[in-house]
Amino acid sequence: MTQTLTIRRPDDWHLHLRDGAMLEGVLPETARHFGRAIIMPNLVPPVVTADDARAYRDRTLAAVPAGMAFEPLMTLYLTETTDPGNVAAAHAAGLITAVKLYPAGATTNSASGVRDIDRVMPVLETMAEIGLPLCIHGEVTDPAVDIFDREEVFLDTVLDPLRTRIPELKVTLEHVTTAQGVDYVTAAEGDIAATITTHHLMINRNHILAGGIRPHYYCLPVAKRATHQQALRKAAVSGNPRFFLGTDSAPHADPTKESACGCAGVFSATNTLSCLAHVFEEEGALDRLEGFTSRFGPARYGLAPADTTITLEKRDDPVAYPAKIDTGAGPVTVFDPGHPLFWHVTA
Ligand code: DOR
Ligand code: ZN
Repeated sequence: MTQTLTIRRPDDWHLHLRDGAMLEGVLPETARHFGRAIIMPNLVPPVVTADDARAYRDRTLAAVPAGMAFEPLMTLYLTETTDPGNVAAAHAAGLITAVKLYPAGATTNSASGVRDIDRVMPVLETMAEIGLPLCIHGEVTDPAVDIFDREEVFLDTVLDPLRTRIPELKVTLEHVTTAQGVDYVTAAEGDIAATITTHHLMINRNHILAGGIRPHYYCLPVAKRATHQQALRKAAVSGNPRFFLGTDSAPHADPTKESACGCAGVFSATNTLSCLAHVFEEEGALDRLEGFTSRFGPARYGLAPADTTITLEKRDDPVAYPAKIDTGAGPVTVFDPGHPLFWHVTA
């Protein structure tokens, strides 16, 4: 008997669409299955003002193919010169859903990020007052800290002190990758949540490094050891509404990944839902998939869940998806979970 699963249309609470030809190439991959997504602002130059966000939203909407409905939820890139008044105005105008904090140098296009958190306190205080969430890339950038420890150190040295200083600030710890991150978000008092990516549920650091180096699995935060992957899986299927999907699907053209110094980012928009159904089935938690993909995120951001649905069907034949998609900015390799997927998105 064919197994089917109908869930409210998912939303992606952490997505990179880029701009120009790349935006046009990758947006349909998300819009095919997702109703809304939080759009990351790390363009070159970054999306820092209300005007930038409006213009980027318009370019994004213009790239939605005819016949597809997709709502981009915009974010501002927090810099040390961000004006609290401009952020509040963007929020009041309904232009933005969150602000993103990148520690300077933590990842792709983060050079304009925050070096000294004291310098952004006025913006963060304003955000706490108006109830605007802060999405955080939670890694320290100190070169002395091992790359596999950068999230854990961030929790103790940046996140927890920040939340003590401004307990009312709504915080989303983006792409959590460690058991320590999961434990922190589970136990913390106050308004905190975390997104989990598809790929961090399916790979650990062995997949990147054992038996050859796999640049298409390299992302930031880098995947940790298998025990952390297990903690993420447990959190994702737990039914705890503090944990929900943010794919961090992050396209880079193949030559920039397959390089002596490759970019960080996994592009998973194309097959994310088939991957997630696979993971949730493995965990015996298919009944929890809808919460993770479609309910907890909207609740967190004060939005209603989608009133439309998608249907997944488990078939004997594997899902056929391309190894790469062609974009006007070059080919982009699709996340390879390393095994076939049998959950087809059928409607
Ligand atoms: O792997 C990543 N890629 N992590 C990030 O934080 C940024 C992203 C990107 O923009 O490519
Ligand atoms: Zn990201």
